Amino acid sequence: MTEDFDVRLVEDVKTYTPDPQYRKNAWMGDYQKAYNEFLADPDAFWEKIAKELDWISPWDKVKEWNYPYARWFTNAKLNITANCLDRHVNNHRRNKVALIWRGEEGRERIFTYQKLLSQVARFANALRKIGVKKGDCVCIYMPLVPEQAIAMLACARIGAIHSVVFGGFGAAALNMRIQDAEAKVVITADITIRRGKAIQLKAIVDEAVINAPTVEHVVVLRRRDPLVDLHEREMDFYEMMEGMSDDCPPEVMDAEDPFFILYTSGSTGKPKGIVHTCGGYMVGTYYTCKYVFDLKDNDIYWCSADPGWITGHSYIVYGPLAVGATVFISELTPDYPDAGSFWSMIAEQKITIFYTAPTAIRMFMKMGESWPDKYNLSSLRIIGSVGEPLNPEAFEWYYRVIGRQKCPILDTWWQTETGMLMITTVLGEPMRPGFVGKAIPGVVADVVDKDGNSVKPGTGGLLVIKSPWPSMLRTVYHDDERYRKYWETIKGMYTAGDLAVKGKDGYIMILGRADDIIIVAGHNIGTAEVESALVSHHAVAEAAVIGKPDPMKGNSIKAFVILRVGNEPGDNLKQDLLHHVRTTLGAIAVPHEIDFVDKLPKTRSGKIMRRVLKAQEMGIDPGDISTLEE
Ligand code: WT7
Repeated sequence: MTEDFDVRLVEDVKTYTPDPQYRKNAWMGDYQKAYNEFLADPDAFWEKIAKELDWISPWDKVKEWNYPYARWFTNAKLNITANCLDRHVNNHRRNKVALIWRGEEGRERIFTYQKLLSQVARFANALRKIGVKKGDCVCIYMPLVPEQAIAMLACARIGAIHSVVFGGFGAAALNMRIQDAEAKVVITADITIRRGKAIQLKAIVDEAVINAPTVEHVVVLRRRDPLVDLHEREMDFYEMMEGMSDDCPPEVMDAEDPFFILYTSGSTGKPKGIVHTCGGYMVGTYYTCKYVFDLKDNDIYWCSADPGWITGHSYIVYGPLAVGATVFISELTPDYPDAGSFWSMIAEQKITIFYTAPTAIRMFMKMGESWPDKYNLSSLRIIGSVGEPLNPEAFEWYYRVIGRQKCPILDTWWQTETGMLMITTVLGEPMRPGFVGKAIPGVVADVVDKDGNSVKPGTGGLLVIKSPWPSMLRTVYHDDERYRKYWETIKGMYTAGDLAVKGKDGYIMILGRADDIIIVAGHNIGTAEVESALVSHHAVAEAAVIGKPDPMKGNSIKAFVILRVGNEPGDNLKQDLLHHVRTTLGAIAVPHEIDFVDKLPKTRSGKIMRRVLKAQEMGIDPGDISTLEE
């Protein structure tokens, strides 16, 4: 964790008070009342929510807290898909639309709960047939198509642990994730479609599985005519399902059985495999979808993330389906075929709840109001944001232009590690641009100094969570020491790695990361990952990477590179390095700037002082440089 607590002063900001109808009609009701109820008896609070769901057998205890290890709903048995699918099919939602998918060329596919259950069951049976068993890991590397969600749910059905890898990652990043999780099967597609262009996904998988001895099968969704050839150990997604029964009894899972692994960047070169478990994750995502997003039966809900990120796991697939919602998904990009693409979807589908990222909102702002103004957005009742700080200008624009000064904004703070959203301004509470808000009922959050003392209102420090919650990560795969660090950096509390300011009224403002993680367009990028990708290029001797504030992306990536002798700096080499990072890590991690340098600032012990580079770059005071060599 770096030492610079770059604390902004908390100014008096405008407050927006939503229509009282929102609170009156919300599942949560009054925030303070719900929060007090939680504080009075935390276990009873969570137990009441858990009881709304179907369990194969109940728990002995709601929670067992053995610092820093938690177990939730001990010895209870369940299957999350029985809650996401069967529970609705067996009740009044059999014919309700679960998923609406929209492709770029205007193609639409609709799955009712019954249809989705049948597809999931058949694919789950197909996975069982090729030998996938409870506890095996399956890597899912797919575009945003219904089959991506079907593959996830099918794994969950049979107790296989999925590791979904975002389709924008490169071959080396994918290989590392396959190897670390020891995936037995990789599920992919021939292509993904972006801005009218087909990107060859399978070619990346072909490369990524070369050094992955655990992989027994590669399942390919073939979207394109003529069908791509399949080779040894490769099989077609739909051919596998032929002749499969649509009855697939759900695997009986213990509440604490591992559910999925999802990799997130850390401050070393190796991403962390965050492990979530079955029971607590289900309760946390169900609770927040119902009581924070206020999902009702007649909502049409759209979260524009990709299931390859935690946002998509929790708020496209598992949470909304557990609630029985109608979920819209689409492969569309916000600026293709034109800057009205998202707004035309909202108008066409009559979306009522829309959840997106600040980087997208800032891009919409830049493209101008005339685009959303062309469309009727009056179906919207709630709009949300996640991934990085929603700056006040973007808040105001989102509220006025998209929310038409009526829709509450749910700016939600959370992480891959937390599984569910943790801090926001719940419906009915006054909204303050720049501030995410307060901990939701069920969560205890605070801003503290290095010793863990709560800071005074108006000052900043580290964001922490002070007690366990059901959907918290249980470990880091193969690296429990990294798990313990979350709880040991400040004894007794979970440190999120974010810097924050506590407002006078207890509202929390998130400033950004306190460590070597850069949030670029809402994506978590480790400086060390980009550095090691650069150093793996034959011309590079050393590299240092920093994040620079960027008006659109939040941060941009700048790299400083020392070349090996015999290599000349120049534009060609620069392009070559960018290409190298793109193919190894993926487009999201490509530096926006590269400087060739002769030296990097280092401590006497040889650690690169990125803080000094950043200060130089931005023309600010580097702070304490007494450990700098020379
Ligand atoms: C980091 C977690 C959880 C979904 C997407 C990102 C930043 C997330 C907010 C917000 C300010 C935010 C934090 C956090 N972040 N939401 N509403 N306001 N910052 O998940 O990739 O695990 O990244 O995203 O810095 O630590 P993730």
